[in-house]
Amino acid sequence: MTGVSIKSAREVALLREASQVAVATLHGVDRMIEPGLSTEAINDFVHRDTLRRGAQPAPLNYHGFPKSVCTSANEVVCHGIPSEQHVLEPGDIVNVDITSIHGGFYGDTSVTFYIGEPGPDAKHVTEVARRSLTLGIAEVRDGARLGDIGAAIQEFAEPQGCSVVRAFVGHGIGRRFHEPPQVQHAGRRNHGMRLRAGMCFTIEPMINLGGYEVEILDDDWTAVTRDRSLSAQFEHTLVVTKKGCEILTKRSEPLVHSERFGDLWG
Ligand code: MF3
Ligand code: CO
Ligand code: CO
Repeated sequence: MTGVSIKSAREVALLREASQVAVATLHGVDRMIEPGLSTEAINDFVHRDTLRRGAQPAPLNYHGFPKSVCTSANEVVCHGIPSEQHVLEPGDIVNVDITSIHGGFYGDTSVTFYIGEPGPDAKHVTEVARRSLTLGIAEVRDGARLGDIGAAIQEFAEPQGCSVVRAFVGHGIGRRFHEPPQVQHAGRRNHGMRLRAGMCFTIEPMINLGGYEVEILDDDWTAVTRDRSLSAQFEHTLVVTKKGCEILTKRSEPLVHSERFGDLWG
């Protein structure tokens, strides 16, 4: 007994709808994001756009989180709190993590955006994180094991001179924000729970330019790299299928402020 539920086709359809609400809002953020914008302005947009789509922003009041979206810039690994005082500058990278509740189900997705032109380090850590998610997803199919996902990410990211954050994991998702299983982004092939068609979870690797250790700031939320090196993250919500998986937060259009450098590894 793993406590991991197998979703019905109807449940998957509802998760897909919730996921696509989050994707639509993410495209709205892509259209507005630029130097000079505050992370509070992103929060205001995400909050209002989510409600306009008949959904609720899951982060707001989740275990006391004070805002409707997480905005994590530069050395912030995850759970950055939007603020009027935090104005985005050219060369910054910022992860915007959107989770929408719609029809009783959660959809969770994030990307790292480039603010203006990135320096080489920002571009490197961001593209390693983007590729890490792609490679993790490529492991997913009925019969594969959870450890295969982390192994694929670790085997790619570490030779690139990056590290994989251990302190936060991907998660099962459904009628709750965080369900079993925990999806580690570093691991061993042929280890861990076996994946079965109908399981729904996120993969959301956090990749650092320095060491993998994190520290939580005094606001009790903001996770930063202990060595203050840059960190980047991408997240999708997916459902396991017989032959692979369906990415429920798949985008039909590229994001101008993230994907314009493409994937350096094809
Ligand atoms: N969206 C995050 C995740 O990917 C969780 C954010 S929890 C919050 O799991 F409270 F900070 F919003
Ligand atoms: Co998540
Ligand atoms: Co998320």
